[in-house]
Amino acid sequence: MNLVLGLFGFCSILFLVAAEDPYRFFDWNVTYGDIYPLGVKQQGILINGQFPGPEIYAVTNDNLIINVHNSLPEPFLLSWNGVQQRRNSFQDGVYGTTCPIPPGKNFTYKLQVKDQIGSFFYFPSLAFHKAAGGFGSIKILSRPLIPVPFPNPADDFTLLIGDWYKLDHTILKRFLDLGHRLPLPQAVLINGRANWTTFTVEQGKTYRLRISNVGLENTLNFRIQDHTMKLVEVEGTHTLQTSYSSIDVHVGQSYSVLITADQAPKDFHIVVSTRFTEKILTSTAVLHYSNSQGSLSDVIPGGPTEIDWSIQQARSIRTNLTASGPRPNPQGSYHYGTINISRTIKLVSSAALVNGKQRYAVNGVSFVPADTPLKLADYFKIDGVFHVGSIPDSPSGKSTHLDTSVMGAGFRAFVEIVFQNRENIVQSWHIDGYSFWVVGMDGGMWTPNSRKQYNLQDAVSRSTTQVYPRSWTAIYMALDNVGMWNIRSEFWARQYLGQQFYMRVYSDAGSLRDEYLIPENALLCGKALSRKTTPL
Ligand SMILES: *[C@@H]1O[C@H](CO)[C@@H](O)[C@H](O)[C@H]1NC(C)=O
Ligand SMILES: *[C@@H]1O[C@H](CO)[C@@H](O)[C@H](O)[C@H]1NC(C)=O
Ligand SMILES: *[C@@H]1O[C@H](CO)[C@@H](O)[C@H](O)[C@H]1NC(C)=O
Ligand SMILES: *[C@@H]1O[C@H](CO)[C@@H](O)[C@H](O)[C@H]1NC(C)=O
Ligand SMILES: *[C@@H]1O[C@H](CO)[C@@H](O)[C@H](O)[C@H]1NC(C)=O
Repeated sequence: MNLVLGLFGFCSILFLVAAEDPYRFFDWNVTYGDIYPLGVKQQGILINGQFPGPEIYAVTNDNLIINVHNSLPEPFLLSWNGVQQRRNSFQDGVYGTTCPIPPGKNFTYKLQVKDQIGSFFYFPSLAFHKAAGGFGSIKILSRPLIPVPFPNPADDFTLLIGDWYKLDHTILKRFLDLGHRLPLPQAVLINGRANWTTFTVEQGKTYRLRISNVGLENTLNFRIQDHTMKLVEVEGTHTLQTSYSSIDVHVGQSYSVLITADQAPKDFHIVVSTRFTEKILTSTAVLHYSNSQGSLSDVIPGGPTEIDWSIQQARSIRTNLTASGPRPNPQGSYHYGTINISRTIKLVSSAALVNGKQRYAVNGVSFVPADTPLKLADYFKIDGVFHVGSIPDSPSGKSTHLDTSVMGAGFRAFVEIVFQNRENIVQSWHIDGYSFWVVGMDGGMWTPNSRKQYNLQDAVSRSTTQVYPRSWTAIYMALDNVGMWNIRSEFWARQYLGQQFYMRVYSDAGSLRDEYLIPENALLCGKALSRKTTPL
């Protein structure tokens, strides 16, 4: 008996060693440099001299070792939109989880893209750096033996789209610090440029396009003249393959589509334009057939104008239940619709003046950072940094106030979150550490009756969802990832002025199976400065 157990143990150790997931190493130098996205010089944030930053290619379960050297004259952090950091919120790179990298110093992120596939991006999370660049795409490919529900495309293009200011990010930040609202962005960029990017395709072939909205506030409509797009993946979920003539990409979201070069050989407009804005900002790129015999048409095709069109499209985006995700078993094998909800959280966003300054809030609380990352205060049991319960589960009716808002939640709870939007803008919400099912959205106020229209079969699972003007969006989320997780508006000025909070998903067990120890190389700061990272 013992011998058998012993042998079994021996074999499983061997197996673990042999099966260790591959490592990929990155060495990144972050600097200021001149960029010309609109033809005039601006100060941009470059990574290894590039704007946008280098692309990360990975395969499910790869370990990414990313050494980030901060050569800016100010603190800096990168965060990983949609990469779940399982059991490891220390690596999340937002100011509630990770100490800023001081100027002239470096920090090595150790991420594992555990059980993930799909299209994501990274971005600078501190100050208003996101308005200066420092972002790039993350592509997580399926492991070789796991079926992907479409043939291998001839190429895999990245399109980082986003609205953009001609104003320097330091000026924008000063505006916000003084308590003003920002003016509207002034342009739209595609891969860091307006109007000058070309994608060359061969007639008859099919291509994958990964589109991420890395911008600051606007929903963008994406379309390609005379070509339909077959949606195949949304933030890590293989979708029902539906064809669209254009797609609304809300800020912070990522979509993969397939396009086939099935037209007469010429050049076509790729168009990105703002939605729901009075003045429509447009940027174009070129889809160039390698055997092109015609130039671009003078007319740039227009986009949809109705909001209903967008809602209908959102509802039509569903999970392909029989397709594989990161694992060989079908994505539909987890029946989220049959699990009992243990808690309903209702998040209502608002804008208000506090002490004469513009602030934005969730459930009446406008987030202000503490002197110590919340995750480190929690880990080292340092009092006086934050308190759990500083944001209520639904609006309390009190007037807007500032706090370092943290909501407590039990590991393995299954929660329903309702985002209620009372304003006349489209909102976009992101949750770190998780992906969630977008079970419903509709106009008006959410009531328990709204549950009758939920999609409990094949809702899409993703990490960023839009909430339409004067509407609600409901999500289901299985709290299976212990840590301190940022829930934020992706409208960047709003998150900067407090429209965000942290969810502390907690387990009493203190087991490494639930959460890793603090990384040995973790930077320490604030009240955690003199602590030791090596466990006793
Ligand atoms: C980063 O780039 C700057 C500017 O080119 C250079 O001075 C610095 O030595 C570089 N740092 C690293 C770590 O490569
Ligand atoms: C890019 O092209 C669009 C559409 O023609 C135009 O509205 C916009 O001003 C152009 N942007 C720049 C920076 O030239
Ligand atoms: C900083 O970079 C050096 C190599 O250039 C590396 O040895 C060291 O571990 C890095 N520091 C941190 C905190 O990751
Ligand atoms: C769903 O995935 C299956 C399995 O890969 C595939 O055969 C099927 O075409 C997909 N269906 C749709 C509608 O995308
Ligand atoms: C869910 O709740 C219902 C009613 O309270 C109960 O009958 C059922 O067993 C529960 N299901 C699960 C999976 O816990």
